[in-house]
Amino acid sequence: MTLREKQRRRLRRRIAAYVGVTAAWATSVWLSTVLEPPDWLHLPVLFMHLVSLVVGLGAVLMIEWHALLWATGWGRVRELRQADRTLILPIWVGLGGLLLSGALLQPHLDHPWTIVKLVAVLVLSLNGVALTRWTRDLSRLPSKARFAALPKSARIAFMTSAIVSQIAWWTAVLIGMVNSTT
Ligand code: HEM
Repeated sequence: MTLREKQRRRLRRRIAAYVGVTAAWATSVWLSTVLEPPDWLHLPVLFMHLVSLVVGLGAVLMIEWHALLWATGWGRVRELRQADRTLILPIWVGLGGLLLSGALLQPHLDHPWTIVKLVAVLVLSLNGVALTRWTRDLSRLPSKARFAALPKSARIAFMTSAIVSQIAWWTAVLIGMVNSTT
């Protein structure tokens, strides 16, 4: 397979992933408007929501911690690669659990903050797909490559994705928490 064909295949896969996460998000929001789960289900589903949050956000924080260590010269790219490879699964499992349980929690979609939260969930999901590009780019770097030696545009793109990820996750967490206590 030529380089161009490989690039096209990767692009097609990434577009399919963007469409896939958007469809999963839209399905979760749509289901939340049509499902009317019985009251007794609320507590177990809320528990599933929180467990999924711990798994998903926990794995995101671990990867971003390794990314921060590499960016500040305290860690090696090899360690970040390892974290990225092993923690990618819990991130998507956690996010899947949040979408699934969220669909059963009957969100108040007429509440502006709920809409902000759901937009944040979509942003962090799409950004998660965008970040998978880094997995490939990181695997090409020599194991002692320094973050400071990357081209400026790559460093800015890397930092932007990491910051967007943190802002979107914490926006969803804070609004979820405030919404459930007011
Ligand atoms: C990254 C994704 C998400 C995060 C980080 C997140 C986070 C949270 C948090 C921290 C809570 C507060 C739980 C508590 O204090 O008891 C919560 C509650 C809630 N979430 Fe999510 N959530 C996410 C996705 C979703 C989705 C996709 C939906 C709906 C489609 C949803 C609907 C709800 C509802 C309705 C509650 C209130 C439950 C209640 O207390 O009755 N969440 N969420």
